Formats: sequence, C-alpha cells, structure tokens
Amino acid sequence: MQRLNIIGTGKLGRTLGRLAASSGQYRVQDCLARSTASAQAAVDFIGAGRACQHVAALQPAALILLSVPDDAIAATAQALADGEVIAAGTVVFHASGAAEAEILAPLREVGAHVASLHPAFSFADPERAVQQFAGTLCALEGDAAALPLLQDFAAAIGARPFALAPGGKAAYHAALSVASNYLVTLTDIASQLARQGGVDEQLLPALLGPLMQGSLANALNMGSQPALTGPIVRGDAATVARHLAVLPQALQPVYRMLGERTVALAGERLPEVARQTLLALLRD
Ligand SMILES: NC(=O)c1ccc[n+]([C@@H]2O[C@H](COP(=O)([O-])OP(=O)(O)OC[C@H]3O[C@@H](n4cnc5c(N)ncnc54)[C@H](OP(=O)(O)O)[C@@H]3O)[C@@H](O)[C@H]2O)c1
Repeated sequence: MQRLNIIGTGKLGRTLGRLAASSGQYRVQDCLARSTASAQAAVDFIGAGRACQHVAALQPAALILLSVPDDAIAATAQALADGEVIAAGTVVFHASGAAEAEILAPLREVGAHVASLHPAFSFADPERAVQQFAGTLCALEGDAAALPLLQDFAAAIGARPFALAPGGKAAYHAALSVASNYLVTLTDIASQLARQGGVDEQLLPALLGPLMQGSLANALNMGSQPALTGPIVRGDAATVARHLAVLPQALQPVYRMLGERTVALAGERLPEVARQTLLALLRD
C-alpha cells in the first residue's frame, strides 16, 4: 500500500485524504497544517494518519499532496526541499487550478517528481464532497515520471483524470473562469438591460433562466455555431442598431466586442454583405 502525506488539511486536503484512505490503496500517513489542531481534525475526518507539527517530522511517502492555499504553494515547496525530508522518486503534487507543476521546481533538485492534479469540483463541505466526488474530472500535468502514479491515485479516489498540454494550465484555468465567472457577468448584464426595459425584478429568473439554460445546453450539445440564434446570425442589422441606440455607455464596449465575436462565430451562416454591414455597425 502506498503512503500519502498531506500538507494543508483544509477542505480539499481532508476530502482527498478520506477518499484515498477508503480506497484501500493508500495509507494516509502524515498530515500537516498551520495549526496542529487543524491537522488533528483532518486525521479524525480521514480516519487515518497522524498530525505533524512541522516539516521536519514528515516521514518518507510515495506521494505528497500540497493542498495549501495557492499563494502558499511555492513557499511550502521550498520549505519541503530545504527540509531534507524528500526521498528520491517521491511524487509531490499540488491541486491548484491556476498554477503549473513548475511552481514545485525546487523539489526536483532534491529528487522529487512534481505535478499538479486539479479537480474541477467545489469542496465547500468535505463531508458532502466525499459523497459527491465520484466521476469528477481532474486536470493532470507535470513530470512524465509523476503522471502514472497520479493517474492511479485519481482512479483510486474515483476521479476521471485527463492530461493537459505542457504549459496549458493558464489557458485551462482561463477556460474555467470564462465558463463560470463570465456567465455570471453576462447574467448580470442581461438583467440590467431587462430592468431598463421595465421587466419586474421578480420575473428575471423565469425570463432569462430558460433562455440561458437552453442556449448553454444547445452550445454544449450541438456545438457553438449551430447553436447560435438571434439577430446577428440572422443578419438583422436594424435590430442590432436598435440595441446599440438604447445601451448605456458602460455596456457599449462589451456588447460590441461580443457582437464581433458572434459575427465571427456565425461564419458561413452569415452572407458576406450582412457580415460587413454588421461589422461596420458594431465598430462604429
Ligand atoms: N476548495 C475548492 O473547492 C478547491 C477546488 C479545486 C482546487 N482547490 C485547490 O486546493 C488547494 C487547497 O484549497 P482549500 O480550499 O482546501 O484550502 P483551505 O480549505 O483554505 O485549506 C488550506 C490548508 O492549508 C493550510 N495551510 C495554509 N498555509 C499553510 C502553510 N504555509 N503551511 C502548511 N499548511 C498551510 C491550512 O492550515 P490551517 O487549517 O491550520 O489554517 C489549511 O489546512 C488550493 O491550491 C486550491 O486552489 C480547491
């Protein structure tokens, strides 16, 4: 059975710890946090391991999960590298969506293989997370020597690992941010315009929800271009002009920029003359 140390025993650390322990394939060994009380609470939650007070107390392990906050990953990796506690061939990985495995580079110099394993999952409540984690996609990148062990680890905890291209982490994370954050921003913009048009606040979810959910489902199921509807893909420049005439100044740039992206997305569905008319209008 492979041994797993966990540094950073918050929401993600203790959830993956419990899943690893209950897989029967990993022995959760040492847990380290800023406070020993937190590490002990994680040991109790996981049902295995022992709480450590500092890096020097860590015992050798096949895998070390660095589940500290993103801005503490580099310093924690350096502390581990300086601590002379890494056996050659140890796989050290973090779980950040934004940072590359490269942030763990100092650990290579002491013989570790480094990687990142990012679960596309929200770990708000560890008890619920343990119940709901199965099937979660996990983005995996890092040293070639680390990946087979992490693929096994991901499979053991019920995840679906997939590899990212080298250097692809920032674009991957931007994709998730656009998908989740900008969707919220778009909802807010649509709500503001509906209010401007006199729609009652209470009607907004019923008005916008089915449209947004339907469009999202269509785009994901049919592909972006076939899912497009509305004035731009119809080449209806008069309607776009009416929108521009009433849009508040603050929303003009985003409407025009997304409009241009939509013209490009419409591609051959839009005749050339209509395409040029729309672009001239949107760039005016
Ligand atoms: N939460 C999510 O939904 C989610 C999803 C995907 C990926 N992630 C990634 O998972 C990682 C951990 O996130 P989280 O939400 O689990 O964070 P968290 O709940 O805030 O837990 C962070 C843990 O790190 C410990 N810690 C902080 N600074 C430390 C240091 N310098 N040395 C040792 N331990 C330290 C904290 O100790 P104390 O307990 O003593 O304060 C705590 O146990 C991050 O990289 C995050 O991006 C999180």
